[in-house]
Amino acid sequence: MSLQNQNGLLNGRVALVTAGGQGIGRAVAERLIEQGAQTHVSDLNADLLSGLSAASTQAVDATNENEIKSWINKFDHVDILVHAVGYVHQGTIEECNFDDWRRSQSITLDSTYFAFKHIIPKMRANGGSVISIASVASSIKGFPKRAAYGSSKAGVIGLVKACAADYLKENIRFNAVCPGTVDSPSLRERMAELAETLGSMEAAENFFLDRQPSGRLGTAEEIAGVCAFLSSEEARFMTGQTLNVDGGITI
Ligand SMILES: NC(=O)c1ccc[n+]([C@@H]2O[C@H](COP(=O)([O-])OP(=O)(O)OC[C@H]3O[C@@H](n4cnc5c(N)ncnc54)[C@H](O)[C@@H]3O)[C@@H](O)[C@H]2O)c1
Repeated sequence: MSLQNQNGLLNGRVALVTAGGQGIGRAVAERLIEQGAQTHVSDLNADLLSGLSAASTQAVDATNENEIKSWINKFDHVDILVHAVGYVHQGTIEECNFDDWRRSQSITLDSTYFAFKHIIPKMRANGGSVISIASVASSIKGFPKRAAYGSSKAGVIGLVKACAADYLKENIRFNAVCPGTVDSPSLRERMAELAETLGSMEAAENFFLDRQPSGRLGTAEEIAGVCAFLSSEEARFMTGQTLNVDGGITI
């Protein structure tokens, strides 16, 4: 049964969400569906897309330009794109070899370039809202062990601002949502990886909690709510912005 709400904030809109299989992307997809958008969701891993009450789901590797382009080109017009694809390499610059570096730029920044470039023609007639899930670990703030990640997300913010300037007159808005530390499957993997270096899972959890003034991790749903707002007409005068949703990191 569809959860689509005929009286929602996004009623009648066509939305695309990438990396919608788990974590923040999935919560965003569920929220857009709940708010009435006809929502199409992709992820690298098709198995993760089961159980979503989306209008359609498809396996798409967002680092492959042809794959993401042909997925986007299935739709006549699109009102909303939330691009949630990203990859966290955990390490200092000395702990980051060139393959790690390239992988980070490919998954996080190249995928954003492909998604933005091919969505623009689909929004040209009616305008639209493009949202990238960036991070406060970027041009906003430096964090330990985030050399490749921070620079790739800084690139995302730069691209958001450049596109916001280029497409302002065509009413295509570009904004970046910048989460703090959010509980997600991949965060749990990074904790387990760090636990091996720090000696215990408790030490690894504290590493992440220590950077959260809120004293707790954020939830994917807390990021999804901001994306729904930015997708909607309520945010029609906002473009080129970075919205920090970070539990007080950047106070
Ligand atoms: N979790 C956090 O603390 C946090 C903080 C700030 C920003 N972010 C960003 O939020 C986004 C989502 O992160 P998360 O931790 O919620 O989710 P996650 O890392 O647990 O899941 C990521 C999803 O992306 C998919 N994916 C990976 N490579 C892909 C590709 N090439 N093409 C398409 N899909 C691909 C995976 O299959 C997976 O479903 C990422 O961009 C991440 O950098 C997360």
